[in-house]
Amino acid sequence: MNNINRTIKVSTPSNIAFVKYWGKKPVQYPLNPSVSMTLKNCVCEMDISYQSVENGSFINNFLFNDQKNEKFLKRLEKYLNSLKEICPYLENLSFSIKTNMTFPHSAGIASSAAAFGALGYALANIEREIDLISLEEVNQRASFLARLGSGSAARSIEGPYCIWGDHHQIKSHDDYALKFTNIHSSFKDVKDVILIIDQNEKSISSSEGHQLMNDHIFKETRIHQANQNFIDIISSMRSGDWEQFGGILENEALTLHAMMMTSQPSYMLLKPNSLQVIQKIQQFREENALPIYYTIDAGPNIHIIYPKNYENDAENFIKTELSEYCENGRYIIDHCGTGACLTD
Ligand code: PMV
Repeated sequence: MNNINRTIKVSTPSNIAFVKYWGKKPVQYPLNPSVSMTLKNCVCEMDISYQSVENGSFINNFLFNDQKNEKFLKRLEKYLNSLKEICPYLENLSFSIKTNMTFPHSAGIASSAAAFGALGYALANIEREIDLISLEEVNQRASFLARLGSGSAARSIEGPYCIWGDHHQIKSHDDYALKFTNIHSSFKDVKDVILIIDQNEKSISSSEGHQLMNDHIFKETRIHQANQNFIDIISSMRSGDWEQFGGILENEALTLHAMMMTSQPSYMLLKPNSLQVIQKIQQFREENALPIYYTIDAGPNIHIIYPKNYENDAENFIKTELSEYCENGRYIIDHCGTGACLTD
């Protein structure tokens, strides 16, 4: 590689799982297939300058939201080190990375999915620039590389929906996520309002949570259930059956937390206000017969999912009846997006 000195700018969103990935096999393969919605406004913007050097020093400059961040830098360095075998060209590059998140850290939106999605997408584009892959291969390669940093990041490259993980009936892969196509028109524009119930850092990381699935008493039952939910949610998103979709969505959210509560050791990430909000949503849906459902990531914050044409009713309800359960009344309004892009 001769005298390269370039900058690549990418923007990559986070995503929220409808069917959850929980538990993994080496190397960052999911125990079960998952389905997700790619967000639009909650993105990681990343500028990566890369230079050819004799012996790669990897990251020689790193800023996260305009500040040094040793913890995240260490995680990125560990990630790049782990890629040396599959990306030998890294030995001859050094990087300067500037990262900006458009959403608050610990807001219940996976920042690692957006950050590793951005890094995977940037690396895949670098591979295209140095003629290792073609333009058509970029997204698949990006998803593959992102997965090795954070499993769910594999699903941040394409949008509005992705599937990831082997399934015997559907063309879906463990190695990388695929855009999920042939959806019903009522799923073309879907909103996600994230209620910030508690902004404190989680008491246990996702990696520790995944690990607890290895010896979980309900491991096999969970794998079986997720495979069935995967098929059923895909079918509901193709037929436009919001009732079936919502039932699975909420069942998946509660199952994720049930797995946490029944692991050894057990732990609980939901807060009293998370439960209050869940009950309010169920009641509002029953009283008004509206397709407004919730999901939850690995934390106490609640994602409210509904078709855009119900936004007036939904957002009025959120503002008047749910915002009081949020920390400082905060919530983030987002909707489905198309995935990673170059911004330069
Ligand atoms: O990507 P990881 O390894 O941080 O795992 C995240 C798993 C969940 O967010 C809890 C569920 C999912 O499928 O995104």
